[in-house]
Amino acid sequence: MPHTFPGHFPATRLRRARANDFTRRLARENRLSVDDLIYPVFVTEGEAVDVAAMPGVRRHTLDGLIREAAEAVELGIPALVLFPVIDPSKKTPDAAEAANPDGLIPQSIRAIKAEFPQLGVMTDVALDPYTSHGQDGVIDEDGYVINDPTIGILAEQMRAHAEAGADIVSPSDMMDGRIAAMRQALEGDGHVNTVIMSYAAKFASCYYNPFREAVGSAANLGKADKRTYQVDPANTDEALREVALDLKEGADMVMVKPGMPYLDIIHRVKETFGVPTFAYHVSGEYAMLKAAINNGWLDERAAVLECLMSFKRAGCDGVLTYFAKDAARWLAE
Ligand code: PBG
Repeated sequence: MPHTFPGHFPATRLRRARANDFTRRLARENRLSVDDLIYPVFVTEGEAVDVAAMPGVRRHTLDGLIREAAEAVELGIPALVLFPVIDPSKKTPDAAEAANPDGLIPQSIRAIKAEFPQLGVMTDVALDPYTSHGQDGVIDEDGYVINDPTIGILAEQMRAHAEAGADIVSPSDMMDGRIAAMRQALEGDGHVNTVIMSYAAKFASCYYNPFREAVGSAANLGKADKRTYQVDPANTDEALREVALDLKEGADMVMVKPGMPYLDIIHRVKETFGVPTFAYHVSGEYAMLKAAINNGWLDERAAVLECLMSFKRAGCDGVLTYFAKDAARWLAE
């Protein structure tokens, strides 16, 4: 090869380690594995129906849920997280159905645990699938979500999940003081090993819209939003304060949500606290990717795996993603 500058050469050639697959493998800093995946599943009291804004995602019946759980076990996915689609007739202003010990979620937990005791079962603790107004808590006459009464109901909801055998309870409501209330309830009931993964830094994001369609809370919520409890997307320090509080109150693991638009938050959380840190790659992120993929604009496997790797690079220990089954299959190839 001709030398362009005889006698001169770059002292460091970073391309050397990129030149071969084996050196690329040896030099690789982060790895994505099936152990990093948590699979979100929608379970319904009604008929199984596809989620329009989330191609490939369904609301499953209990039987369908068991099939999903079987697939997750088969693929080696460590845990799934359940989201309920509640019959509209059961939705009330105070979300009483949320704490029903024989409700859809407790039933789902028992059904999965009976078949696959080794599969981690995680539940979402929040009232929005159960309220007639679609908010995550009870509201006053102005529609303001009132913190402390909401916490009491959330703790009861969580109790029903823990009692049914949930391994990880995951409060997604963003009320102040909820982790302390839940930890106290768990200890009081003797559930000393139930893990709390808090949605610690949960932002008031537009990327949850497909999810709200999926659980059927969108219509109830109408034009209202969740900005009086979820974090302002402009803030970072506030997110760290949320994480600090949740840890102090007894959270074992923390989550940042949404995922890709908030990699900076994930990075700071991991650097600051060094605790098990998760990202929720949310419904809107799934919808965006699927839209591009289904138009032939992005390659599904490459786009999804690159996205999941970004979470690892940012500092995540794991990711909740609707692509969990696909990712597990690709990673096994
Ligand atoms: C319930 C809850 C939401 C999500 C998870 N739990 C919606 C919301 O807060 O409005 C969103 C998940 C997703 O978009 O995939 N509080």
